[in-house]
Amino acid sequence: MTDKFVYRSLLKKTVEQSLDYLETLDTSPVSAPVDYAGLYAHLDHPLTGAGTDSETILNDLVTDSRGAITGSAGGRFFGWVRGGSLPAALAADWLTAAWDQNASIYASGPAVAVMEEIAGKWIKELLNLPVEASIGFVTGSQMAHVTCLAAARHYLLARHGHDVEADGLSGAPQIHILTGCHRHGSIDRAVRLLGLGRNSVVDLPINSQGQLTAKSLEKALKDHAGQPVIVLLQAGDLNIGAFDPFDELIPLARRYGAWVHVDGAFGLWVAASPKYRHLVKGYEQADSWVTDGHKWLNVPYDCGYAIIAHPEAHFAAMAYQASYMVYNKEARDPLDWNPEWSRRARGVPTYAAIRQLGRDGLANLVERTCGYAREIAVRIGALPGAELISEPRINQGLVRYLDPSPGATEADHNRWTDRVIEEIQQTGEAFFGGTTWQGKRCMRISVCNWQTTPEDVDRAVNAVKDALERLQSGR
Ligand SMILES: Cc1ncc(COP(=O)(O)O)c(C=O)c1O
Repeated sequence: MTDKFVYRSLLKKTVEQSLDYLETLDTSPVSAPVDYAGLYAHLDHPLTGAGTDSETILNDLVTDSRGAITGSAGGRFFGWVRGGSLPAALAADWLTAAWDQNASIYASGPAVAVMEEIAGKWIKELLNLPVEASIGFVTGSQMAHVTCLAAARHYLLARHGHDVEADGLSGAPQIHILTGCHRHGSIDRAVRLLGLGRNSVVDLPINSQGQLTAKSLEKALKDHAGQPVIVLLQAGDLNIGAFDPFDELIPLARRYGAWVHVDGAFGLWVAASPKYRHLVKGYEQADSWVTDGHKWLNVPYDCGYAIIAHPEAHFAAMAYQASYMVYNKEARDPLDWNPEWSRRARGVPTYAAIRQLGRDGLANLVERTCGYAREIAVRIGALPGAELISEPRINQGLVRYLDPSPGATEADHNRWTDRVIEEIQQTGEAFFGGTTWQGKRCMRISVCNWQTTPEDVDRAVNAVKDALERLQSGR
């Protein structure tokens, strides 16, 4: 059971199983409409005293999961915001698991610590962010928000003479977070985790373009003048890919002494494209930025980045020294820049992904996927019974479907839209999800995967056309 020579034969079989999945993505259903109880029963093996041999486990993993693994690694999955894995990133991820380095400190994994440091430098270069900014590699944008907002909390409260790391929040002035209602829910969770409290979030209205306006932000800043304030801006919201006008809003927030945080879980990557980088004009003046590797950069899960323009605040919020650890004066210890201790060497797949793409490859990935998103949305929007709600300005678009019954109401169109989405998912040809935007149920179109091709676009549009025709004719 513990024979170390099993590695070679087992891992070779694992490669074969992985290839069976990856190489059949084009011919497999993209959705996994399984029955939960059946799936649970398949996977619920008795917990034995003696354990199970590794080859049986590998075979069981594959057979028990059959039909229940979605095609999200492939090019026809347009639900939520799901990236795939670039080949070099996937290979690096496998090596990361095999090396099993604890990437907390340089001393316990020198090579992976340096790869993370270099990958961080490349990210800042690609995104045109300040070279002196610090960066933490975390599990995703959720923890990147926690990291950045912890640094903001330190910075703002220190200016009010309060040491939050020593004294916690008791006795501290309340920090307010001014943000648009288009923000992602991970912000609210970060605020909860940091003890700032849900009621510290001030919801500001957004305009018809999904943007926060200078007028409403200035009013809120005036209302909170003299208090610690975080202004939270959006680079690519998940419904319509809206970008706040950074060059207008950030100088305004600065005038009131606010910390500006930018959520760009996927949208930040437009900065790497000459065609789309105007959307983030002025964003480099912010104090912190969040983005993911596991979305548009096509790095395997889990991988997000917290980038902070004030390394001293970042360090104060995260670093820790213990006598049994070994710290390095020259090299970067990852532990100092993220909220984890023992951790996977998640810098390695990012390092590989960026090397594989290069500047041009990344710009091409961004521009290509934006083009596909637009084509899918426009072609679906032109189908009888469909309506284009938001033409993608980047890689996110919205359409909805109109109930053909005479006298159908908005509520009927909402129900019908969900019905059409379900029908499309059942075809296994393409996967789209739903959302409610400005009171309307819509179908989201999100294209993030490096593997999507023009053929996938055709297949997706045809799947929608067929599903609509089937439902409209009552078949
Ligand atoms: C705009 C935005 N912010 C934050 C998040 C949270 O990211 P993660 O799932 O990597 O924690 C998402 C996830 O889709 C998102 O779209």
